[in-house]
Amino acid sequence: VQKRWAISGVDLHVVPRGSRRRAGLEAALRDAVRAGRLATGVRLPPSRSLAADLGVARNTVASAYAQLVAEGWLEARQGSGTWVAARAPAAKRTDENHKDQSRSALYDLRPGSPDLTSFPRNDWLRAAQRALRGASPDSLGYPDPRGRLELRRALADYLARARGVDVAPERVLVCSGFAQGLAIVAAALKTEGCDDVAVEAYGHTSHRTTLAACGLATSTVDVDEQGARIDALDGGAVLLTPAHQFPLGPTLGARRRLQAVEWARANGAFIIEDDYDGEFRYDRQPIGALQALAPEQVVYAGTASKTLAPGLRLAWLVMPASLLEPAIAAKRLTDGPSTVDQLTMAHLIVAGAYDRHIRRLRLVYRRRRDRLVTLLARRAPAARVGAEGAGLHVLVHLPDGATEAATVAEAKARALALDGLASYRVGAQCHPPALVVGYGTPPEHAYSSAISRLCAVLAG
Ligand SMILES: Cc1ncc(COP(=O)(O)O)c(C=O)c1O
Repeated sequence: VQKRWAISGVDLHVVPRGSRRRAGLEAALRDAVRAGRLATGVRLPPSRSLAADLGVARNTVASAYAQLVAEGWLEARQGSGTWVAARAPAAKRTDENHKDQSRSALYDLRPGSPDLTSFPRNDWLRAAQRALRGASPDSLGYPDPRGRLELRRALADYLARARGVDVAPERVLVCSGFAQGLAIVAAALKTEGCDDVAVEAYGHTSHRTTLAACGLATSTVDVDEQGARIDALDGGAVLLTPAHQFPLGPTLGARRRLQAVEWARANGAFIIEDDYDGEFRYDRQPIGALQALAPEQVVYAGTASKTLAPGLRLAWLVMPASLLEPAIAAKRLTDGPSTVDQLTMAHLIVAGAYDRHIRRLRLVYRRRRDRLVTLLARRAPAARVGAEGAGLHVLVHLPDGATEAATVAEAKARALALDGLASYRVGAQCHPPALVVGYGTPPEHAYSSAISRLCAVLAG
């Protein structure tokens, strides 16, 4: 359901400053009115919505509003909310104001981060409390390099149930994000005599860099509408995003999956399955992990970076037997997420709160995607949307004649951050110009403004 305040043009991106929440929010709102970002007559979000987005108590927002009403910046109208006052002191564009505006008015539709205001703080706090109450003093000592057994058990149950992974807790390795997981897998591959890894021609350049930094030669495999071109595979391993190719979007086709597994078996090769957003599928049931087809050839990798928050640095690997010991040895040389966070995550999963959170977010993100697709079709019909069946991003193919660089620059001038597809080009293959639009990132109260700006940029 669209919120009235959000579609009535509120251009609000509030970043409360400092640790005192009420004072920080008050200052952020006062600055926004003073700088003219919140214009006279604009209606503010209801205190309940803004409180939920910012993760603060409703009272905190209500009393910040009340203070600003008392100061004359805002006006409360009986039964119809809070508005920017007609006689609010006029904006004086000092350099300071200008700087503040460019920093805080930024809308972000780049892929990568979920809506951080949706982090389930209460569930997490409850799980942390239970985890700490139940933790023996011993459990707070130096940890098992594989991660806490409680979490590995919980993950094994979850992954088997939700992602169809063939898994036992002994095969799970908890790590600090997929970023670390990939380095661990690379070290294990190297120990086992694998010297070269293929990556998809579009993806994160950092992944290729990580593999190279671990001493592996890298090559790329092209991607078409069925996913990676498995028939062109070569080398000892390949890194794939089978559920939802990042960033182009196709799901690795059924025949390609079998082909990939046959290739790995025939060549004693490995597949690294980066299941970074497999939980979010909207057009059908989530597609099960490729790993289940060949658990001894596939390293399965999952992460909490999309489902919870990247700042947790919490991810997991499910290892084939032959890579397990070398991976544990590599993990021993580094570190992992804190035991307290691992135990908390285990409680979150076992209590069912993790599944509930994902189910709720799946709905939220599907609605966001629907709004984006509908609005683009209406306001910028020359831009074609793809990759919309899953995940937290879509691909927006640019109209004829438009370039990524000009579109990104135009968006920047409107305080909107966007990524062109070319910034995810890892190999020689070259797809036509497009934007990789991540609709997960903006907090709910800024989403309508963000996508309106995108439409305005694309409509030209
Ligand atoms: C393709 C891909 N793989 C993996 C990840 C997760 O990385 P990490 O777990 O290090 O945050 C992301 C996150 O944005 C991603 O886009």
